[in-house]
Amino acid sequence: MTKRGDKYKWKIGAAPPSIDHHSLVKHQIVREYLGRYIKVLMSNYNIEKLVLSIVDGFAGGGEYTAPDGGGYSPGSPQIVVDTVTEQEALLNIGRDKPRKVDAKYYFVEQHRSTCAYLNALLAAKYGSVRLGRDIISVQGAFDAHVHNINQDIIRRQGGERAIFLLDQYAYDQVPVPLIQKIFTEVDKPEVILTFGVDSLISFLADNSKSRKTMEKLGLDSHIDWASLESLRSAPPAVWRSAIQRNLAKGLIESSGATHSTIFYITPMGNTSWTYWLVHLSKNYKARDVMMELHWEMANHFSHYLEPDLFTLGYRAGSDRGATLQNDMELGEAHHFDAIASEKCKKGLGEKLVPLIFDCHEPIEFRQLTQSIGSLTPATAGMIKESLDQAIRCGEVLVTSQDGKTRTRGSSVKPGDRLQAKQSPLIFFS
Ligand SMILES: C[S@@+](CC[C@H](N)C(=O)[O-])C[C@H]1O[C@@H](n2cnc3c(N)ncnc32)[C@H](O)[C@@H]1O
Repeated sequence: MTKRGDKYKWKIGAAPPSIDHHSLVKHQIVREYLGRYIKVLMSNYNIEKLVLSIVDGFAGGGEYTAPDGGGYSPGSPQIVVDTVTEQEALLNIGRDKPRKVDAKYYFVEQHRSTCAYLNALLAAKYGSVRLGRDIISVQGAFDAHVHNINQDIIRRQGGERAIFLLDQYAYDQVPVPLIQKIFTEVDKPEVILTFGVDSLISFLADNSKSRKTMEKLGLDSHIDWASLESLRSAPPAVWRSAIQRNLAKGLIESSGATHSTIFYITPMGNTSWTYWLVHLSKNYKARDVMMELHWEMANHFSHYLEPDLFTLGYRAGSDRGATLQNDMELGEAHHFDAIASEKCKKGLGEKLVPLIFDCHEPIEFRQLTQSIGSLTPATAGMIKESLDQAIRCGEVLVTSQDGKTRTRGSSVKPGDRLQAKQSPLIFFS
């Protein structure tokens, strides 16, 4: 198993580790997502306060040596504190009555000297008075502290909105039961998890060691062990596809989350190391915001599933190469670019119109997106676009809650009701 931990050690008095390209991408996502999360939840001007907890379970030392070697790049702890501060300032532009993001931060770091570095940095940047108050720093393993952190979140007045950043090195420090614990104990959690799927692939084989590791991770029942060996000599793309189908299903079904995005990040630069960025939530809107980010940061993301609607849970019998059947694509990489977007919308249009037709009763757009859930790379906006042609030509009738007829895909609202136009019955006399 590839352990990359030694690369990241912080020590007071020594230069912090250099930042990798993949960390920069990850940081950009965390910054953007958190900013949008706050904007969405505070979009109603009458809301004066958002109570939010941010848990950085694998915090690191808080800063890096910048890519060009001069100066410093912020680590995730600084990124979350600074993003919340910036968003709060933006919310208050032109306001007399202040609006507040009442955030509490929990930073967990196992390595003693890294944690000491982080504490010194946090005190210097934000003032030692905040340590122990709204900025909690804990030295130790995340799994040993998660329960107490969850309880503290629950005790906070004003809701249990919490974002957990679980930035493990490889794949084995955040087993599914740990995620389940978060989703069971906290009311409104979201998890942003990194999962070193390439490290897993290079380790995975049908032997007792692999089986034991996957059992500990809570994912063994989702692995198609029988076909694993036959895939061993296959190109990486085939592996990535099979693993994405197996493990994505396992993570989605077992985590307690109802919505997810599980896609590959292939960092640019001189590394071929690929990992998953997993976002788990109980909220479709949250998933949609993350999905929009994937499309905006197209050149970093890819997936190996269908371009429009996913079939998760790979089994060898569905592999075209193994069975010569044409029912499932294996090994084709899709990026989040213009070509993928067109393919996705075209495919969705072809699949969703018959689905709406089969409903017999009108279906709310909200219900449609919920039922497709996470089984698509499309955002809600793209789903609307995919139905545009059918709506324009009257094949799908869309009625707003106040009885108006929509004539374009882009004007569809969550509460609108969609119905396929029934073909008139033809009588022959
Ligand atoms: C990839 S680095 C984190 C980088 C940081 N999230 C950032 O973006 O700046 C992972 C960190 O987790 C720490 N770590 C490893 N195992 C841990 C565990 N079980 N609990 C908490 N921290 C752990 C490591 O010492 C290391 O500092």
